[in-house]
Amino acid sequence: MCGIVGMVGREDAVSYLIEGLKRLEYRGYDSAGIAVPAPGGLKTLKSVGRLSALEARQTLSPLSGPVGIGHTRWATHGEPSERNSHPHLNQKQTIAVVHNGIIENYLELKQSLLEDGVEFLSDTDTEVLTHHISRCAEGRPFLDGFRQALGDARGAYALGVIHADEPGVLYAARLGSPLIVARGPKGLFIASDVPAVLPHVTEAIYLNDGELARISDNRVEIYGLDGSTRPLVWKTIDLDDTAADAGGFETFMLKEIHEQTRVLRGLLSEYVPGGAGTVLPDLHLDAEGFAGIRRIMIVSCGTAYYAAMYGRLLIEKYTSIPVETDLGSEFRYRDPKILPGTLVIAVSQSGETADTLASIKMAKAAGCRVLSICNVAGSSLVRESDHLIYTRAGPEIGVASTKAFTAQLMAFAIFTLHAARARNEMPAEELKSLLQDLLNLPNAIHYVLGQRNEIESIAGKHHEGPSALYLGRRFNYPIALEGALKNKEISYQHAEGYAAGEMKHGPIALINEYLPVICICTDTEDEVAEKMISNVKEVQARSGRIIAIATEGETRLDGVAEDIIFVPRCREPFSPMVNVVALQLLAYYAAKARGTDIDKPRNLAKSVTVE
Ligand code: AGP
Repeated sequence: MCGIVGMVGREDAVSYLIEGLKRLEYRGYDSAGIAVPAPGGLKTLKSVGRLSALEARQTLSPLSGPVGIGHTRWATHGEPSERNSHPHLNQKQTIAVVHNGIIENYLELKQSLLEDGVEFLSDTDTEVLTHHISRCAEGRPFLDGFRQALGDARGAYALGVIHADEPGVLYAARLGSPLIVARGPKGLFIASDVPAVLPHVTEAIYLNDGELARISDNRVEIYGLDGSTRPLVWKTIDLDDTAADAGGFETFMLKEIHEQTRVLRGLLSEYVPGGAGTVLPDLHLDAEGFAGIRRIMIVSCGTAYYAAMYGRLLIEKYTSIPVETDLGSEFRYRDPKILPGTLVIAVSQSGETADTLASIKMAKAAGCRVLSICNVAGSSLVRESDHLIYTRAGPEIGVASTKAFTAQLMAFAIFTLHAARARNEMPAEELKSLLQDLLNLPNAIHYVLGQRNEIESIAGKHHEGPSALYLGRRFNYPIALEGALKNKEISYQHAEGYAAGEMKHGPIALINEYLPVICICTDTEDEVAEKMISNVKEVQARSGRIIAIATEGETRLDGVAEDIIFVPRCREPFSPMVNVVALQLLAYYAAKARGTDIDKPRNLAKSVTVE
């Protein structure tokens, strides 16, 4: 997924474009480029690799001008290279385009362009669209040609376009990929998301799918693909910009790991302001709403899917509602039986994940209510949903999700307790006790954060091997999966999360004296706890190198685990919100020891807005 930015300013736009790309770099960072109108046509500057390479180019041969577009790329079509980087130009070099998304019928368009004699310089779908726009706009008002070209394109796009005949104008369009128009004292902007231009804007328009914009000095016009004009709905931006710097931490990810106590305290103060009878702000699911739920389907991707797995366990433990979960990329292509009375819950940090969005649209078409657990208020997912639990974790810049994930877990806890109470499936006294346990969790997380030095030293012993195995049961099985994903994502050491009860069905063959096995053993009270201890001993019997996450006071692992990370005792169903912090830090320090780029791991992007 890529980041795009554009500006129609009153002074030089290039510094704002580059600043915006820096703020968007977490969306993709294998190449970057900018383009500005210039006497006699357009000028572009491109570079492979991080944005710093483009900045160096700008220093050597600066572009300038009050209008421009910029792009930071996460390759979909064509390897990361200068020729595949955006902006792309038409043959006459009078039109420049930056694009986030995928044009699915680009081969069909390319074939017809080749027949028209067009010569291609890159392997990208974006260049195809650029030439198609040029062809459609030939000899007619650009806006009409632009509209027609968009009507011919299938797939997803957020576009910024400039052309030499209108040097003071910026065009934009969106279908399936996020794009905003924003305004402030320095001028008018377009961007993939608000944080890209946050310091310079006060209001934004969230373009809808199928809309395009014509932006000139002090004037914004919005049209539908049918040519109809659309109203300008300016929304005040109330985002906090402190997320834009790492606040003294060595990386954004470490900062965001440490923000989790504050984030969960914020969620609890908002959603549990005074007891179980509170209607969740923005959820508006009061007793009838909850009582009407006969089934829940939770759809999400990646880390958010592990939150979904946790949500299912929690909802089924405390309410009578049956719950199923599915990956967005699977749900949208199978034939799910979406029955009446089904509430579909979408979990997404960005609210822009293509597979999750597509699944939600299917659910709505089937007549379901949709509740989203999301961290970006103006996102596509939120605008598609009937209800929202806004996780309010603040912008998450580190590509590997941390604070957004624990906020998703807390959101499920809040939803579950409100549902149980609204459906009269939980006595008031039990609810009060559970709420008190939730309110204690931020302190438990704070305690784990205090062990970062010990965790760093443990990570230093185990990061060198080719792989690691993560084991957990019940509420902590999804956490074993998430811990393994964190390790893979940022340290590049292969890791596999597994249900501990499944270990004997195969993975036990992997156990030897070189394999780190991370075992989540905080359950202490019931038969599952005993089973987990047995699994750990089975690992020990095969000389596996055991790193245990255990509750303070646990003694059954003495002489069994090589390293133990102790966490405060908390109610087992809520322990994932504490245990995952230990695993985040373990992965973090493994990555640090392996010298990877922790905030921008290779090949990853913060939000996967393409399939
Ligand atoms: C998180 O660590 C991952 N980078 C990734 O799996 C992410 O959780 C997934 O792409 C879903 O993103 P979303 O929450 O924005 O929908």
